[in-house]
Amino acid sequence: MSSSSEEEKSKPAIYVNGKRYELRDGIGETTLLEFLRDVRLTGTKLGCGEGGCGACTVVASSITGYDKKTDQFSYAHKAVNACLAPIYAFEGHHVITIEGLGNARDGLHPVQMAIANAHGSQCGFCTPGFVMSMYALLLNARSKNTAAENALISPHDIEEALSGNLCRCTGYRPILKGFVDAFVENKVYSQETIDGDVSNSFKKSVKVSDGTVPICASTGQPCTNGCGGDGEKTDENASSRNVENGANGGTTNAAIKEPLFPIELKRRAKAGTGPLAALAFHGGDAITDSVHNDGVKWHRPTSLKELLDLRDAYPGNESKIVCGNTEIGVEIKFKKALYPRRIHVSGNTIEELDRISMNYDNGEAVFGAAISLSDLERACCGKEASQVERFRAISKQLKWFAGRQIRNVSTLGGNIVTGSPISDLNPIWLALDAMFVVTSKKGGDRYVKARDFFLAYRKVDLKPDEILKQVELKAFNDTDYTGTTAATTKEYFHEYKQSHRREDDIAIVTCGARALFNTSTGECLDFSLGFGGLSFKTIFCSQTANGMVGKHMTKETLDFLMSAIEKECFVDESAPGGMSQYRITLAKSFAFKFFLHCVSDLRTVVDSSSSSSIYELQQNELSSLGRNERQSVVSGAQYFTKKPNGEVVGQPLAHKSAHIQASGEAIYCDDAAKPEGCVHAALVLSTIAHGKILSVDSARAVESIPGVLGYFSAKDIPKNGTNIIGPIAHDEEIFATEYVTCVGQVIGVVVAETRALALRAAAAVKIEYEILEPILSIEDAIAKKSYYTDEMIGMRGFLGHALHSGNVDDIFANEEENIKIISGSTRVGGQEHFYLEPNACVVEVTDNDEVVTISSTQCPMKHQAYIADCLGFSRNKVTCKAKRLGGGFGGKESRSGFMNVAIAVPAYHLRRPVSLVLDRDVDMQITGHRHSFRGDWKVAFDVKSEKILALDVKIYNNAGNSLDLSSSVLDRAILHVDSAYNIPNLRVEGYCCKTNLPSNTAFRGFGGPQGIMIGESVLDDVARHLNVAPDALRENHLYHEGDLTHFGQKLIDCQVRSCWEELKCKREASFADRRKAVETFNQTSKFKKRGFAATPAKFGIAFTALFLNQAGALVNVYLDGTAGVSIGGVEMGQGLFTKVAQIAAKNLGVRFEDVHVLETSTEKVPNASPTAASASSDMYGDATEDACLQIMERLKPIREKMAKDASFKDIVNSAYFQRIDLSAHGWHVTKNLNWDWSVGKGEPFNYYTYGAACSEVEVDCLTGDVNVLRTDIVMDVGDSINPALDIGQVEGGFAQGLGWILLEELKYGDSKNGHKWIKDGVNFTRGPGTYKIPTANDVPEEFNVTLLHDSKNPRAVQSSKAVGEPPFLLGNSVYFAVKDAIYYARQEDENEKNEGAFSLDLPCTPERVRIACGNAFAYGSRDYKTRITI
Ligand SMILES: Cc1cc2nc3c(=O)[nH]c(=O)nc-3n(C[C@H](O)[C@H](O)[C@H](O)COP(=O)(O)OP(=O)(O)OC[C@H]3O[C@@H](n4cnc5c(N)ncnc54)[C@H](O)[C@@H]3O)c2cc1C
Ligand code: FES
Ligand code: FES
Repeated sequence: MSSSSEEEKSKPAIYVNGKRYELRDGIGETTLLEFLRDVRLTGTKLGCGEGGCGACTVVASSITGYDKKTDQFSYAHKAVNACLAPIYAFEGHHVITIEGLGNARDGLHPVQMAIANAHGSQCGFCTPGFVMSMYALLLNARSKNTAAENALISPHDIEEALSGNLCRCTGYRPILKGFVDAFVENKVYSQETIDGDVSNSFKKSVKVSDGTVPICASTGQPCTNGCGGDGEKTDENASSRNVENGANGGTTNAAIKEPLFPIELKRRAKAGTGPLAALAFHGGDAITDSVHNDGVKWHRPTSLKELLDLRDAYPGNESKIVCGNTEIGVEIKFKKALYPRRIHVSGNTIEELDRISMNYDNGEAVFGAAISLSDLERACCGKEASQVERFRAISKQLKWFAGRQIRNVSTLGGNIVTGSPISDLNPIWLALDAMFVVTSKKGGDRYVKARDFFLAYRKVDLKPDEILKQVELKAFNDTDYTGTTAATTKEYFHEYKQSHRREDDIAIVTCGARALFNTSTGECLDFSLGFGGLSFKTIFCSQTANGMVGKHMTKETLDFLMSAIEKECFVDESAPGGMSQYRITLAKSFAFKFFLHCVSDLRTVVDSSSSSSIYELQQNELSSLGRNERQSVVSGAQYFTKKPNGEVVGQPLAHKSAHIQASGEAIYCDDAAKPEGCVHAALVLSTIAHGKILSVDSARAVESIPGVLGYFSAKDIPKNGTNIIGPIAHDEEIFATEYVTCVGQVIGVVVAETRALALRAAAAVKIEYEILEPILSIEDAIAKKSYYTDEMIGMRGFLGHALHSGNVDDIFANEEENIKIISGSTRVGGQEHFYLEPNACVVEVTDNDEVVTISSTQCPMKHQAYIADCLGFSRNKVTCKAKRLGGGFGGKESRSGFMNVAIAVPAYHLRRPVSLVLDRDVDMQITGHRHSFRGDWKVAFDVKSEKILALDVKIYNNAGNSLDLSSSVLDRAILHVDSAYNIPNLRVEGYCCKTNLPSNTAFRGFGGPQGIMIGESVLDDVARHLNVAPDALRENHLYHEGDLTHFGQKLIDCQVRSCWEELKCKREASFADRRKAVETFNQTSKFKKRGFAATPAKFGIAFTALFLNQAGALVNVYLDGTAGVSIGGVEMGQGLFTKVAQIAAKNLGVRFEDVHVLETSTEKVPNASPTAASASSDMYGDATEDACLQIMERLKPIREKMAKDASFKDIVNSAYFQRIDLSAHGWHVTKNLNWDWSVGKGEPFNYYTYGAACSEVEVDCLTGDVNVLRTDIVMDVGDSINPALDIGQVEGGFAQGLGWILLEELKYGDSKNGHKWIKDGVNFTRGPGTYKIPTANDVPEEFNVTLLHDSKNPRAVQSSKAVGEPPFLLGNSVYFAVKDAIYYARQEDENEKNEGAFSLDLPCTPERVRIACGNAFAYGSRDYKTRITI
């Protein structure tokens, strides 16, 4: 190697997929994710930017050791979140991204193949992240596991490795199944195959093609390129090794590349300089060139001395220690913290901070501050360590701490020094009376008790030049506790944590609990409880501890403990975080659990003379001890009718883009190469809910920040254009002018050369307001009669809708003896779409004032219209394109247009393309959600016949600050309030509440789920009043064929009873048997209760606005016999393009592979309705079929004249030479629709999709934690076009419904009716850190789906049925199962025994569940109404 290249190589560098990138000065603020995307490795996605979704997962490999004797290296392969990783922190690392594995052209890597083939990729935005997490697991298994016969990894390992990855589309089952099948069942990546060892055990367990070909290291398939799987033996200068694809039915013999660990980094390690040498960056010249340099200085010391010198030179705020950056990264992003000098303490570089020393006999331990939490977890879960309760508790607590990617980088020191009041580990250190060793250059070591270390909110006892060095644990029987070392003692230790979501969530309350007993006397020597989540800092319950010492564990001691905790753990109602009653209850519940934990064993260890007074644990209390942990990973069976081979429609084909999604090649809006000269926008948003704009000062932001190109607002709209738009009513301003009516309303937009500068400048725009009183909740809107009206929007017939069947008043007026009337109110919270891909768009105004915009939208036509109207252009000059979306779910139907049009204004003036990508928190604050609803109802039922006679409902939704689609959403709720039940007299009225929240919008189900939930709640309450099984009452009311709905639509081919009956026939699904099993369990379990519920689904298919029920398709046939199809619908993961291709292939008589569906664009199919209402496959499939049939009709005479076996290509060529048009435009108009709100009778829907589900749950009544044990679904999707995609929709839709009812809670500030600790109108839950969608650990452990057999649908293309939204409804089976479990708990409530109906707001979060359960260890009343944003 030449000296100049030696010199080159000594420069700081990072390797990505084997390629070297030199790291320049001036990018200390840049994340690894930004770096990767800048070098066009866009397979790594930005989903949240806060470590909460896993879309940005990459593998970072580094050398952890080198053995000179054997010349062997040891490596660490960590899955990490690139979005929180500072680029400099990965100097000297080898980063592997999705592009480093396989690609669709050359062949996929087995991990990519596994997820793609198992239908684990729908929209695909999350897929690269899942692939990389799985790949990291395999790499680590490869480097560790040597057991030849054993599987390298277990299903649990896989689930755990994926715990930091969110998927909003699939419901997780297929992802896990794909990986378990490939890597556990088939051992595609087993040790033998990885070693390329074709001898002995390998031959036994691995299928070798002919027994002579070596097996590829990566794929486990026969290898023909001679690598033999041992990368070390390949050319050391190669950046990758060839391996062969072919796992799981993939292409074989296609060479793919898996990057090798770079030789340069090995040389560095060998040279003894260590893999990670000392490093310093000076920040570049940020004064003259702030566009390219951020000025952040960066140091990487490699010894404690260097570190302390640096801290000494730059004490306090002059420098910031950075470890995993998981806390700091979030502070920089959300709190806009500035840290101009950073000292990176990297794992594995400073020996003293990297120590782990543990004594399993006496419990002593030393943990270095820079060890990662994964390292700590590993150390504490080893075979011997896990025999020691304190170590086991640490590892168990870490299992529920963030996701794997966070634990891999975040450090013990980072967790402690952050001083977070909800740290999961700090209560453990307090309970163990740990000692923190802090040190500084001048002062040397100083010992601080953990109990004294936390001073105030995020403030700890560290001097400006000090660092935390290590944590020391003293022995079990330290004299501090016993007074004498002679006493025979026994230590108990347990960890507790309850969060909104079980996995990857910060705690609501977290606890470490320790007790030490004298085993001769049974006397308590120490009882230490550390709590997080109860105060502004982690607390130690000293009074409780003092009171407990000397006591024996009797019933009286338990009573004392409960009252002591109640006194010492009091949380004020107005405390930040809210949930005061729940938090106190949790503290008591944890203490109670710990008390039982101790006594469950103590009797067996103390001398028999002392054991009799110990509280006797009852058999039925045993279940309270453990957490609600799962026994297995999600699995299940899928049943559908198989179509004969050769029929393309009806086959379970994989999503057409599955392979490119799995390889990261699929291009989403922000992945596309930006047009030349593209600049970046950031929105200037209102920060108050309601007010008058007094002044806007943008000058400072624009003038003082170099690289900022301008601030644009309403005054910049061209004179022919308009500032007023809206999807139905034009009642919204693009840029607020005089008033702001919600937090997050767009006031202006700043454009700059870089995104970072644009964001900085937008934050610097100063706005003064006169604050006006906001209306935020439905309650407040009702009180002030703040409803949208026709007059308000200047339109007729849109609002004030009501329906009335039979005669409700007569029933209520003639109350008879056997008629009972009850009333209630159902409160249903909203839901965030949480599509994994945040909103993004690019606008370019080209010559002749033509506009091209690429947008992540479900409705390109609206974007075209908004931009044309705003700029005063004709629509024929504006083209909107959408290639694919990373999920939409309704959230990109009408709200995405508002930001797209906002950046069209600067694009017009600057004559430069402008790009906008919303940060997740901004997206969640401004784009609206599923509407929250309230249903006030009164029902009359006959106690003898057990029939509901009349229902009267008033429905309210919280529309927000503009009408958007709220009236249509409300309409669908009105039309679905009957759920699937025949209620002879039904009156329903609807009100759209006008409030100062961001405008709520479409979301899967479009009001249907809320309407149905209100109706189902009525049924459930009636069943409780009648004391009959709710499923029996439901069955008793299900519609029959030919019945009329409450708006007079006759139900034809009504399959709801077929679904219900089939559900009951499922394996062990007989409702009676299931209920019996639940009851048996509940009799033997006091604090864990199971519940069971079955619910039906009936969902009307059609847009309720008649004009939207039309669709176009363009089919072009080419002379090679292939077809290109363009439709107005957008692919967002639902498989629309795949189904359309199947239909086209069938109708043209060509192979599925010969049909390509092209990106959606307004220039190809104009005036398209939004891709919504579940009807897109019906509509675009039919339009495509129409176009294909037209072409086939034209080809018919030619075909007839040709030989019988003439191929399609031959026929097409013949037609071409006869000058026949090979292009056709197909059209669909949904028939059978006949609806008029002014009459309130008719056929608003083309047909209905039906289904039924039953779910069984287990509730921990002491914590409110819910585990969904099993769900069975039967769904009627007609004659399925693609059963695999339909099952994907059923599972994904159900999981989303489950999230809505169980986990996903939006919390907006509302000082009058809601969360008082949040500023009025601000969404507190605006990221994965605070808003929890389900993980793989939340979907049913057993999840079975059946597509109803023998179901036809003459009203839709290919006799299929729409499936996108209906399965969402069935999530409600989980809600009623939870409620069922709570009923059992309430029946045994020692405080308030009562079997009567009770109300439970949605979502039924752990807080609501726990409070509703009540019992002796609860604080406050179980009928307390929790704060809810509705
Ligand atoms: C998605 C996500 C999920 C999370 N989930 C959890 C959770 O479930 N439970 C939980 O408790 N926390 C959680 N956290 C919080 C956070 O990850 C932890 O606190 C983590 O341990 C911080 O470690 P770090 O190395 O990344 O710290 P950094 O961000 O690098 O540093 C944090 C602070 O510690 C200081 N510091 C670090 N080391 C030292 C030292 N040796 N001496 C002096 N100062 C030092 C830094 O200067 C900084 O002020 C989560 C964070 C994220 C982003
Ligand atoms: S983008 Fe990194 S975790 Fe979400
Ligand atoms: S496929 Fe997972 S988020 Fe869409």
